[in-house]
Amino acid sequence: MEELKNEALAQIAQATTTAALKEVEVHWLGKKGLITERLKTLGTLAPEERKNAGRDLNILKNEIQTAIAERTVTVAASEIQQQAASLFIDTSMPGIRARSGHLHPLTMVTEQVVDVFERMGFFTLDYPEAESEFFNFDGLNIPSDHPARDTQDTFYLTDGNLLRTHTSPGQVRAMREFAPPFKAIFPGRVFRCEATDACHEHTFNQVEGIMIDRSVSVANLISSMMTLLSGVFGRQVVVRLRPGFFPFVEPGFELDIQCMVCGGSGCPVCKRSGWVELMPCGLIHPNVIRAGGLDPAEWEGWAFGLGLSRLVMMRYEIDDIRWLMSGDLRFVRQF
Ligand code: DAH
Repeated sequence: MEELKNEALAQIAQATTTAALKEVEVHWLGKKGLITERLKTLGTLAPEERKNAGRDLNILKNEIQTAIAERTVTVAASEIQQQAASLFIDTSMPGIRARSGHLHPLTMVTEQVVDVFERMGFFTLDYPEAESEFFNFDGLNIPSDHPARDTQDTFYLTDGNLLRTHTSPGQVRAMREFAPPFKAIFPGRVFRCEATDACHEHTFNQVEGIMIDRSVSVANLISSMMTLLSGVFGRQVVVRLRPGFFPFVEPGFELDIQCMVCGGSGCPVCKRSGWVELMPCGLIHPNVIRAGGLDPAEWEGWAFGLGLSRLVMMRYEIDDIRWLMSGDLRFVRQF
């Protein structure tokens, strides 16, 4: 008995995990454990011996049980401590800086333009990039023999529609959609099938703006555009107005801005002229008012088409339009 007891207690003392203790328990007290087996053989002993052996075995069984229970408390506590230590997070360690994203310069300038116009009472509209010939051309008083319809300039879609070559189709759409008087802008991407260079890209951005009222003035048109430009550039910019021809306006103008990349001395962006065409504009042609479902005897309007990509280039002094669509992170991360 004494030997058995010492052996059991030694095993219990040596066990350093709760799993090991469980094994010791099974070894001694399990269904086929050493003590259990011995208790089963009591019946084969003589009655006198049986009594003593039974008592001693039960005392030993209790002692082993108690020892295991006590040891389990100690071992479990140290196991929990170890686990906690391995989970410890040192909150004083320097963190890993997450690289935050930001808006593309085109998006930033678009939002700025939208903001300036919305403060002047314009609302912002979004019209389809895949457009019909009617809205892109006919409705804008661009007859079918106009060079702008040349397949060189326009991407035609297989379903008979085309990719809009400018944001002007929104003029006719807006007049059909809203009751005048109103003023609205429609920013968006436009597409032209042309060779690319520092100032030409097949996909670029424009913002179209129109104001429809019973009587509108060129003075109001120009003052709206000056407000826009000083809003975007944060200072007065140098502009000039020239006559310009567009089938959908009469009279038509070209508003040029002095090149802000070279300051007017000449560079690839301004084709070495010192000026960049930024905003063609004019009073809406009566045929266009009519295409919009309004009576030109009753309603007038002005419109402008702002080259957003050019504006972004001027604003951030970008010398090649192709950077804008390049997807090059070295470019985008500079803003
Ligand atoms: N849609 C013309 C273009 O992309 C630009 C334009 C000219 C828009 C005169 C206008 C305008 O609204 O009045 O070339």
